[in-house]
Amino acid sequence: MTQQLTEDFADPAFQANPHPVYAHWRRTGPVRQVRLPNDMDAWMVTRYDDGRKALADPRLSKVIPFDAVNATSTNPSISSAIARHMLSSDPPVHTRLRRLVSAVFTARRIEALRPRIEEITDGLLDDMAGREAVDLIDDFAFPLPIQVICELIGVPAADRDKFRTWSNIIVTGALAGDRLPVAVQEMVTYLRALLAERRERGGDDLISGLIDVRDQEDRLTEDELSSMIFLLLIAGHETTVNLIGNGALILLGRRERWERLRDDPALLPTAIEEFLRYESPVETSTFRIATEDLEIGGQRIAAGDAVLVVLLSANRDEDRFPDPDDMRLDRAQNPHLAFGHGIHYCLGAPLARLEAQIAFGKLQARYPDMRLAVPEQELTWRPGVLMRGLHGLPVIPG
Ligand code: HEM
Repeated sequence: MTQQLTEDFADPAFQANPHPVYAHWRRTGPVRQVRLPNDMDAWMVTRYDDGRKALADPRLSKVIPFDAVNATSTNPSISSAIARHMLSSDPPVHTRLRRLVSAVFTARRIEALRPRIEEITDGLLDDMAGREAVDLIDDFAFPLPIQVICELIGVPAADRDKFRTWSNIIVTGALAGDRLPVAVQEMVTYLRALLAERRERGGDDLISGLIDVRDQEDRLTEDELSSMIFLLLIAGHETTVNLIGNGALILLGRRERWERLRDDPALLPTAIEEFLRYESPVETSTFRIATEDLEIGGQRIAAGDAVLVVLLSANRDEDRFPDPDDMRLDRAQNPHLAFGHGIHYCLGAPLARLEAQIAFGKLQARYPDMRLAVPEQELTWRPGVLMRGLHGLPVIPG
């Protein structure tokens, strides 16, 4: 039976605090079919054990016949220019695509980016100096990961604002209405031009590296190439911003938390894992489709049905985490699912962790007396169930 929850998902009260709803679902119907804001029905898996198993279940395919972003485009050539990426493929295609970029995203390669990430962070913090009020999302949490991912991939600085607009619309999905196909079309046109230019001119960025692979060994098709860059840009744009924003709110919302971490930065690694668990930046996994009839948590799922794992809910599961609603900066055991699990486990996790460590360490050292500029209740959250993040976070740098 489908429960009509569309209004709940769109309700600002649900967006502000979805945790009680998910806690209720974990107790009363942990795998339930809902109608999403885009009018699609999907099974939401809300418990940790079920979610972890589902994320790694090969019977749940990532090849989605009705992807919301692609479905909005009437032009198949546009759709396939962004759809042929690893997060929308199963083995063996997935294995091949992932291997090609994995070399760039190893912990060692990412660690080498540290000095540049520190430099970018310092620059953003310098820009806040002397200002009375600052939006920590617009002025810090957003530009930091964008600049890093754009530099890594090779997107010119002048074009970054366009990406902000497009990727924002794209992750909002069907809720963005008519703006969605326009954004997709513009982004694909841009990506194709960028690839053509880089093929001509060459470079030492990730785009050029991927082009070389294609041209020399013919392993990446043109569509796979643009789709890979599309995925990396979207993933790099929309996720780490929420980790930094949500973490900052967790700290600034309770003075004692802010001060404890500020006075003991050795807690940073566990604190960041706890931010990921407690207010997970990616609220639900991406879609999976059952390729055969199966069961999740005792619930029968029919072949062809769509499944979403609610990472935010799994990470608050009382059967997995002691006192899950307590935010503990020093939580020792923290096997959260914020980066997913299984073969699609987040490729960018080492980069996101490094950015967050640098961001929080430097933010607190530079502005030890930072405060919220508005009452927490006035903050609003972005719509949609895919991402969990604030629209803005006004602060007084101090
Ligand atoms: C705090 C920041 C981030 C979070 C919470 C996050 C979360 C996730 C999650 C949950 C998945 C799995 C989705 C699923 O299985 O349905 C995923 C996959 C992925 N992420 Fe991230 N991500 C973050 C940052 C990044 C960054 C910075 C990049 C790199 C540019 C990135 C690149 C990817 C890619 C390429 C995949 C697909 C992997 C595959 O299909 O094998 N992510 N991420």
